[in-house]
Amino acid sequence: MDTKAQLDALYAYTKEKLASDKTGHDLAHIDRVLKLAKELAKNYQVDRFVILAAATLHDVVDDKLFADPKQAQKEVVAKMTALKITQEKQAEILEIITHMSYASSLNGKYQLSLAGQIVQDADWLDALGAIGITRAIYYGAVHQEKIYDPKILPRKALDKTEYRNLANETIINHFYEKLLKLPELLNTPEAKVLARPRQQIMLDFLAAFKAEW
Ligand code: ADP
Ligand code: NI
Repeated sequence: MDTKAQLDALYAYTKEKLASDKTGHDLAHIDRVLKLAKELAKNYQVDRFVILAAATLHDVVDDKLFADPKQAQKEVVAKMTALKITQEKQAEILEIITHMSYASSLNGKYQLSLAGQIVQDADWLDALGAIGITRAIYYGAVHQEKIYDPKILPRKALDKTEYRNLANETIINHFYEKLLKLPELLNTPEAKVLARPRQQIMLDFLAAFKAEW
C-alpha cells in the first residue's frame, strides 16, 4: 500500500470516528488542520507522511471526545498496523497526537518533534480567529457553560487538572485562559505570522462584546 492510500484510509477512519461528534470536532476542522499543516511544512525538512497522519488522527484519541482514550489509542494502533505503517512511524505519530493538546503544554511545554510542532501549530491556528470564536461558542454551549459573568475572572496559571475543571468556566473566560495565550506559544515563526490577524479579530470581538454587555 502506498502512502497516499494509507493516508486516505486514515482519513476515512477519522471521518467515521468524528461522524457523531457534537463538540465542534467535525471533519471540517481536520480538513483545515491538514491544509495549514501542509502549508507550514513547506518551510521545513520534515516527514510529510508523519505530519499528515498526525493531523488526520489528532482528535480521535482526545479524552474530551472519547470516554476511554487508552482504548481509542489501541484502536488507532491496530488501524495503523493493519495499514502496514511501520512501527517507527506509528511511534512518531502516536507521540505527537498524545502530547500536542493545550492541556499537555500546561505545567511546562512538552518538547514535541519538529513534525509535532507543525501539527500543533496548525491545530492551534484553527482555535483562533473567526473560526476560533465560533468553535469556542459552540463548545461552550454543548458543555452548558455560561456565556459570560463579569464576576468570574480568568483563572491564572492553570495546571492541567484546573484547566479541565469546567465548573465556573464561561465562554468569554476561555479566551483569556487559552485562546489569547496561544499565539505566543506557537512553535514556528510562520504560524506566528498567521496568528496575528486572527488574534486581532478575537481582541476586537471581546472589546465589542464587553461594550455591548
Ligand atoms: P483542539 O481540537 O484544537 O485540540 P480542543 O479539543 O481543546 O481543541 O477544543 C475544541 C474547540 O473548543 C477549540 O476551539 C477550543 O478552543 C474550544 N474549547 C475548548 N475548551 C473550551 C471551553 N472550556 N470553553 C469554550 N471553548 C472551549
Ligand atoms: Ni484539533
